This record gives sequence, structure tokens and C-alpha cells, in this order.
Amino acid sequence: MNQSLNKLLEQFNAHLNDAIEDTPLGTSLEESMRYSLEAGGKRIRPLLMLATIKMLDHRQLESGLNVALALEMIHTYSLIHDDLPAMDDDDLRRGKPTNHTVYGEWLAILAGDALLTKAFEKIALTPNLEADIKVALIQKLSQASGHQGMVGGQTLDMQSEHQQVPLEKLESIHMHKTGALIQFAIEAATIITSIEQSTAQQLIQFSQHLGVIFQIKDDLLDVYGDEEKLGKPVGSDESNHKSTYVTLLGENGAEQELQTHIQKAEAILTTLSTEFDTTDLKHLLTLFYQRQN
Ligand code: IPE
Ligand code: IPE
Ligand code: MG
Ligand code: MG
Ligand code: MG
Repeated sequence: MNQSLNKLLEQFNAHLNDAIEDTPLGTSLEESMRYSLEAGGKRIRPLLMLATIKMLDHRQLESGLNVALALEMIHTYSLIHDDLPAMDDDDLRRGKPTNHTVYGEWLAILAGDALLTKAFEKIALTPNLEADIKVALIQKLSQASGHQGMVGGQTLDMQSEHQQVPLEKLESIHMHKTGALIQFAIEAATIITSIEQSTAQQLIQFSQHLGVIFQIKDDLLDVYGDEEKLGKPVGSDESNHKSTYVTLLGENGAEQELQTHIQKAEAILTTLSTEFDTTDLKHLLTLFYQRQN
């Protein structure tokens, strides 16, 4: 990671570390929420949001921190639920035992619920953001997370187990279960900075390619990744009979599909680079497909 992204990551992690306050209820809920949130994921979505804000209008970076935190909370909740026995039934996440293996299923479900709802509180309480911007962010984030977005995609993913689905459907699974939150990362940056429509549209298109790139790579890593580096099990898709790019097109076919999206994403950045400093976004794009974790 370059210096600029490292700095954003440090800023973000510092902000995240005191994100969940204790309550007088005296339960283990907050401990379970913090366990997964602070376990240390790659923070690729917050980085994408913050790097895009920095590129468009760096004065808005401070306001972006809470919105990036909200997104990471929703992403973390989606992972806790994704790992449950009723879904992918995995026991390792972010290099640690999954939430439900430590805290039990019901508390893991509730920790996910609480992270999901906390996200919207964080946006509502963000200082220095106009009310209409907050409403737009809340609307986009609920859409990206819910039945029209991530949860819809997760449903399609579960329904497509033990099946050979056509390529268009697979792309739709990826665009929803993974793409929607990645798109929000960039769309939120365009909303916070009130950037003009044509730039926003180009960035949104870029984010749509990124979403597919990210999940194709995830599918590939599930086959040839190193469990130690990944911090989650390999072979989970095979044992759950998932529909993935690898099962449909083979490793080479999946790599080719990856390349197609990389080229399209690069072309958009080249166009944007006449007006903006796209260095960090270029770096993030490379990370998206070269990553080993
Ligand atoms: C994993 O996401 C789930 C997918 C959407 C593929 P990440 O690979 O971003 O997981 P963390 O946040 O780094 O743990
Ligand atoms: C799930 O995709 C994406 C989510 C919305 C959590 P996967 O099931 O492939 O994610 P991993 O491989 O368990 O991280
Ligand atoms: Mg899954
Ligand atoms: Mg999974
Ligand atoms: Mg996976």
C-alpha cells in the first residue's frame, strides 16, 4: 500500500477503535460486536470511500470517516451472518474463530443485527454534514445493504447452491452480494463531495467493475488461496456446492473474465485522470486483483 492509503487506513482504524460504547445492560453484546469489527479486515471499502473523497475534495475527509465506519459495520455484520451454520458454516474469519464459534449462534445473530442498525445511527450523528446529504446517504446505504442489494445477492447465492447457473445470473449474484456495498463506497464519496453528475456516473461505473473484480478474485482465492494469509477457510465454496466463476468457467475462464473487468476499470480511470489525481484509486484497483488475502 502507498503512503497516502496507509495514512487513510491509520486514520480509519483509529476512528473505528472507539466506535461502540458500552451500555448499562451488562450483556456480552458489545464484546461480540467489537470482536468481529476490530478483528482487522482489509478495510478495502472504507479505503475506497476515503480515497475517492480525497481525490474529489479532501476537505470532506473528516465527515467521510463516520460514513466509512457505517459501511464497515454493515460489511462486518454481513460476514458474521455469512459464516453462520445456516449459511456458509465457516469457522475462521479475519484470522480468528468466527463470531458464532466464540459467542454462540444467537449472540452472533444479534451482534450482526446491532452492527447493522448502529451503522445508520453513525451516519445520522455525523457532524458537519447537511441533513439532506445524510438522508441521501442513509437511503443509498439501506438500498445497497437490503433486498435490492447485498441481502438480495446473498439470497440468490444461497438459492444457487447445487446448481449450474448461467453467466448473467452469476454476474448478478456478484453485483448484488458484493458489488452493492463496493458501489456504495464510491457513491457515498460522490454524495459527500456533491460532485457533478457526469463524474459521479463514471465513478459509479468504475465501482461496478471493481465489485465484480473483487468477488471473482474471492472465488479464485477460495480455490488456490493460502488459508493462513486469507484468514478464512479455502474450499468453502466447493463444500457448499456454490455457483462461482470458477465452477462455471474454470480457473482460466475466471481469470479471463477478471481481465475484461480490469481493462474496463482502467479505461475509466484514464479518462478521469485528465481532471483528478487517480493515483490512489489506481493503487486500490491493483490491490483488488493482486491481493492474496
Ligand atoms: C469478504 O470481504 C466477503 C466478500 C464480499 C467477498 P473482504 O475480503 O473485504 O473481507 P475483510 O473485510 O477483509 O475481512
Ligand atoms: C459473501 O460472499 C459476501 C457477503 C455478502 C458476506 P462469500 O461467502 O464468498 O464471502 P467469504 O468468502 O465467506 O468471505
Ligand atoms: Mg457466502
Ligand atoms: Mg462465505
Ligand atoms: Mg468467498
